[in-house]
Amino acid sequence: MNKIKIAVQKSGRLNEDSLKLLKDCGISIDNGKDQLKASASNFPLEVFYLRNGDIPQYLRDGVVDIAIIGENVLVEKGTDITVAEKLGFSKCRVSIAVPKDVSYTNIQDLNEARIATSYPNTVLNYFKRFNVKPDIHIINGSVEIAPNIGLADAICDIVSSGSTLFKNNLKEVEQILTSEAVLAVSPSISNQNQEILNKLQFRIQAVLKARK
Ligand code: PRP
Ligand code: MG
Repeated sequence: MNKIKIAVQKSGRLNEDSLKLLKDCGISIDNGKDQLKASASNFPLEVFYLRNGDIPQYLRDGVVDIAIIGENVLVEKGTDITVAEKLGFSKCRVSIAVPKDVSYTNIQDLNEARIATSYPNTVLNYFKRFNVKPDIHIINGSVEIAPNIGLADAICDIVSSGSTLFKNNLKEVEQILTSEAVLAVSPSISNQNQEILNKLQFRIQAVLKARK
């Protein structure tokens, strides 16, 4: 039987809420968190556990048909990917922060500043609007440590509760965008799988409505 392939974050903040959403839709997934692939027993769906940053490429290549992913990842490297539905969880913002004791007036202060981030395109596009040039240093995790160890003057990363910024003596000075989990769709989804997606989306909409 034909099954729709969905990408879900392998580990991290979206993983749990994504699986909860599928469960609330009445879909039972044979759980094997250590496995990279799992099947639903009562819905034509297969789950692929993937790394966040890889998901846009998998959608583009049609390796998966749909994905639950943070909007911020699509802004960074999936502006060609369609969003079918906003999912209302994993809300966060992508912001620039500087050391708490640094005086900050506006973004011009960051001309030629070293910015540590996992979101280079997002930073570049934002700075371009103000005609300010960043010196970007790409880091893939624990970005907030960079100013403390002298690696950067500022950082750009996800802010949710703000506790990581606080713990690292940083203050948020520019909010670039807000984000939440979304249901994203491959540009090459087949008609058959589009029909399955319609059924899934119908259930998701009912669940989201009930959550309000
Ligand atoms: C994420 C993100 C921020 C933090 C924001 O990091 O990169 O550092 O969460 O959340 P907060 O505002 O609630 O503190 P995560 O802990 O997922 O680890 P990573 O940076 O190593 O990927
Ligand atoms: Mg982090």
